[in-house]
Amino acid sequence: MRRINFLHAALLLAANVGGRVISAGVSVGTDAATSALSARGSECPPFEKGNFNIDAYQLYPENMDWDANLCQVYIGILFNASFGIYDPYKDHLDVISFPGNTLVKEFHVGGVAWDKYTGLATVIIGQGNAFETAGANISGDNIIKKYDPRSKTFLWSHNITEVAKGEYGGFNDITHDAAGNTFFCGTYPESILKIDPKGTAVVPWYLPETINHTVRGYSGIASHGDTIITLDSRLGKLFRFDATAAKGTPTPVPHVPEEAITGGDAIRLPLKFGGNVLLIAENRRGVSVLRSQDASWKSAEYLGLIPMDPSLPSGALTTSVTQIGQKIYAVTDWFGDQIVAGTVAGNKTSFPMIDITARIDALLA
Ligand SMILES: *[C@@H]1O[C@H](CO)[C@@H](O)[C@H](O)[C@H]1NC(C)=O
Ligand SMILES: *[C@@H]1O[C@H](CO)[C@@H](O)[C@H](O)[C@H]1NC(C)=O
Ligand SMILES: *[C@@H]1O[C@H](CO)[C@@H](O)[C@H](O)[C@H]1NC(C)=O
Ligand SMILES: *[C@@H]1O[C@H](CO)[C@@H](O)[C@H](O)[C@H]1NC(C)=O
Ligand SMILES: *[C@@H]1O[C@H](CO)[C@@H](O)[C@H](O)[C@H]1NC(C)=O
Repeated sequence: MRRINFLHAALLLAANVGGRVISAGVSVGTDAATSALSARGSECPPFEKGNFNIDAYQLYPENMDWDANLCQVYIGILFNASFGIYDPYKDHLDVISFPGNTLVKEFHVGGVAWDKYTGLATVIIGQGNAFETAGANISGDNIIKKYDPRSKTFLWSHNITEVAKGEYGGFNDITHDAAGNTFFCGTYPESILKIDPKGTAVVPWYLPETINHTVRGYSGIASHGDTIITLDSRLGKLFRFDATAAKGTPTPVPHVPEEAITGGDAIRLPLKFGGNVLLIAENRRGVSVLRSQDASWKSAEYLGLIPMDPSLPSGALTTSVTQIGQKIYAVTDWFGDQIVAGTVAGNKTSFPMIDITARIDALLA
């Protein structure tokens, strides 16, 4: 790591109030046009490092996503509850902290996602306890924020707990549709909430008939066009939703052969595959690779599992998958490390990024 910059979200927000966002000319139309050119990351320089480490004390990454316009990676820095912006070419990390949440042990940053249509990024600052108690204790604030990586400002922020009224929680994965909406899922129990393109309000878009927060549900969400896919982590099954519908209705997406998907976490439809390859991070197993040839996701072919690298330090968990350039990387975290006194995370200083591109290609061949 050459250099780590620490930045404060409050200051970035102040810049926003000063009007920089407006001068940056953020609009869905313009950005959709920009991203159409580079949404598959073809304009980013080739990234040929193979396996590498991000050396940053207590990074503990839960989730990562690739910005194919600015050629950088967004990182949910789990235990520190901060937001990382990593330049993989220069090995440079910016860390944005959220005063009141960052380094407060109740808060975790799980979900981060880049929106290929607007070029914006979304981050969720949630409650670690929801996951650590398997949904028994879902109390505490959950916040979702929209970040403009070009003007380096936050555009809006919402208190998800105000909407969920403490009835459901565990919000941890995010996706976006072509109309500019943001969708994110909750795990205890399964839920999908939606935010309109202007960021006016958070509304529940899909909730189960019975809301029981000790039931584990959706752990991952991804989309292609107007098709949203979720992974029910308890059932090990995928569901499809129509993003244009007023309310979400789940339709099962059977996968064949019906391999078990266990300990599922984030899911991704990497840009480079154009929406027809779905990667599922499974905490204790690795990455499952599924395909829908026409990207309709009416059903899925289960192509195989890319097992976790056995040489990783003990306790390793596969938590997410991210594209970098034209490569695909498995993201690894450690939930069980002993917390270093006076901090909120374990003592690791180096976090491996495992290049699984060739193994995915072999399964697709
Ligand atoms: C996490 O927080 C600790 C302070 O508790 C700090 O030393 C460390 O640099 C932070 N790590 C990251 C990746 O922000
Ligand atoms: C539930 O979790 C919150 C924070 O996430 C914590 O402040 C509270 O003490 C916990 N309650 C119990 C009963 O453990
Ligand atoms: C978020 O909403 C909850 C529930 O209404 C409330 O108790 C809490 O104070 C709010 N937090 C913030 C930071 O506004
Ligand atoms: C909620 O789900 C748990 C299983 O996680 C079950 O034991 C409990 O009875 C359920 N509660 C209600 C009210 O249905
Ligand atoms: C990190 O902590 C573990 C135990 O929690 C210990 O075994 C290990 O030596 C520590 N590593 C460093 C570099 O301090």
